[in-house]
Amino acid sequence: HPIKPQMAEHPILRQADCRAKGGAPGFKVAILGAAGGIGQPLAMLMKMNPLVSVLHLYDVVNAPGVTADISHMDTGAVVRGFLGQPQLENALTGMDLVIIPAGVPRKPGMTRDDLFKINAGIVKTLCEGIAKCCPNAVVNLISNPVNSTVPIAAEVFKKAGTYDPKKLLGVTMLDVVRANTFVAEVLGLDPREVNVPVVGGHAGVTILPLLSQVKPPCSFTPDEIEYLTKRIQDGGTEVVQAKAGAGSATLSMAYAAVKFADACLRGLRGDAGIVECAFVASQVTELPFFATKVRLGRAGAEEVYQLGPLNEYERVGLEKAKEELEASIQKGVSFIRK
Ligand code: NAI
Repeated sequence: HPIKPQMAEHPILRQADCRAKGGAPGFKVAILGAAGGIGQPLAMLMKMNPLVSVLHLYDVVNAPGVTADISHMDTGAVVRGFLGQPQLENALTGMDLVIIPAGVPRKPGMTRDDLFKINAGIVKTLCEGIAKCCPNAVVNLISNPVNSTVPIAAEVFKKAGTYDPKKLLGVTMLDVVRANTFVAEVLGLDPREVNVPVVGGHAGVTILPLLSQVKPPCSFTPDEIEYLTKRIQDGGTEVVQAKAGAGSATLSMAYAAVKFADACLRGLRGDAGIVECAFVASQVTELPFFATKVRLGRAGAEEVYQLGPLNEYERVGLEKAKEELEASIQKGVSFIRK
């Protein structure tokens, strides 16, 4: 049984949960890891999203508290909480979109790959639940190292016979959000007017901003290119160091996750022309997964776009990115295949 805030069960309520029962228009979304640093603001922002009719909040700790709190917001989505492994299946049943920010974050001095030991197992368990309870859901995977957790999820779904590459998306949106912000600062523009494609993966040198393809069209000096590329690649570490042991990016990540989830939901609704960057199964390079722009539609990532023309600086970066990415992907695949 889902945990509900006590009042929602009170007999005085005429139609407790009537919106959910009546199949109110909108999508059913689950957040796994909803009580965490990312999970909480992400839950709040998804409760504010008019495309969401039902919001399931799952965590192994503190889900009842977060659920009670979020459920008092007077927005449309019906909120239910689920605590611990025995409630995972109830949390997932019937979901259209599952967002996964479960797992440990970095501390100063750690790489994303250092998180593999703990987070690989968490992602495996959660994806086994998805394969069983909502095999058709779109999955937005945030847990790091994304370069390895996405291949892990794919292997779990393959084993279960439910793998649909269009529906598994590693969330690299924070890299795009950072790139838009930092480029806008350099150009003296409003970041809302700037769009920077960021391709490759989501760790260090695998994060490859394509500054030659920035919109609106603009040019950069070699110093600016060096500064921006490095700052975008190290954006996560900048936050980890500033937080000095208290975790990694949570608020900007929640913002980015919601921006991406909203794009996925608009795609599911059938809106045309929804294009965002994500780490997906890909034939753009020789690697089985790669982040590029994808077109989001009713079936998930319906189209994976090519890289487009790269300059020399980007071609060199691409080779470095592929080398590290290949090892990270392999590590994820081997974790399941053993
Ligand atoms: P956090 O530690 O604050 O929260 C993680 C939550 O996951 C906790 O509430 C914890 O109880 C929960 N959890 C642990 N095991 C679980 C399980 N088996 N099932 C369900 N929930 C479980 O960490 P934070 O800061 O929210 O980060 C979460 C993850 O997101 C980390 O792996 C971090 O590296 C990653 N991340 C990814 C980014 C991206 O751009 N893709 C950016 C920032 C962080």
